[in-house]
Amino acid sequence: MANPDPYLRQPWITVHGIPMVNAFAHNWERVDTFQSRPEDIVVVTYPKSGTTWVSEIVDMILQGGDPEKCKRDIISKRVPMLEFSVPGKIAAGTDLLATMPSPRVVKTHLPTHILPKSFWENRCKMIYVGRNAKDVAVSYYHFDLMNQLLLHPGTWAQYLEEFMAGRVAYGSWYDHVKGYWERRKDHPILYLFYEDLKEDLRREVAKVAQFLGQKLSDAALDTITRHTSFEAMRDNPATNYTKIPSDLMDHSVSPFMRKGTTGDWKNHFTVAQNERFDQDYAQKMSGTDLRFRTQL
Ligand code: A3P
Repeated sequence: MANPDPYLRQPWITVHGIPMVNAFAHNWERVDTFQSRPEDIVVVTYPKSGTTWVSEIVDMILQGGDPEKCKRDIISKRVPMLEFSVPGKIAAGTDLLATMPSPRVVKTHLPTHILPKSFWENRCKMIYVGRNAKDVAVSYYHFDLMNQLLLHPGTWAQYLEEFMAGRVAYGSWYDHVKGYWERRKDHPILYLFYEDLKEDLRREVAKVAQFLGQKLSDAALDTITRHTSFEAMRDNPATNYTKIPSDLMDHSVSPFMRKGTTGDWKNHFTVAQNERFDQDYAQKMSGTDLRFRTQL
């Protein structure tokens, strides 16, 4: 097996104008030419917005609310990440997906314009999860500290500037959330919010089930809600990423299942940072009716 070191802590590489995780950027043709199937379900998010959470919810729904079936493998094998690849070390998401029976659940962070055309052409159902930018920035910062496939984020103050400028993997949060918000007008996209999931998980699970055309009993809905609480997912080795090799993710620096709250940004932003962020946010988000809640 090749040494993963060439990919650790490397600067991102620009792919179709978007900063991409170095290890994923190689042989990008595999992503561009990926063949979807009409029954594929795409879970798409800007990083750190609740991807794992909603992936587990979707798998639980497809498994009829049976937690045992969802322990058949770790989340990254049950819901492969389309663009993931560590050449020579971990199989590419595209290869893994090609071997899976339908309906496949596909995880991706790709913005609208670089999502493989095939998903649009096949009108695949997509579930988008948005989370307020301040909590995303804080969560992403901690993720960059522990995830060796990303560049070290530096100090929080430095990182926040990079985040606001879109100089982080997957680029601008602002363009990402607005991109899918627009596309939902002409494509079957269920647009969810992390904050809504925090507010009433059962209600949001029911919404996802309905979107997927799956009927669930009240008991199954209860089980899914319990099984996908933060505490349950944090303690579940099939969802908490502790099975990922520690040379890639170092949970001793910051656990993947870190806090799972809305409003943690208040513990990180200074008053000055918050003012600057709000001003910049108003500019970048002017002209959209997309609204996020930064507290519950
Ligand atoms: P924090 O770092 O704020 O704790 P993603 O899966 O998109 O990478 O998002 C990870 C973020 O979602 C982390 O946020 C993680 O704790 C949070 N998360 C994961 N599962 C969750 C759950 N069941 N409930 C609430 N938050 C969850």
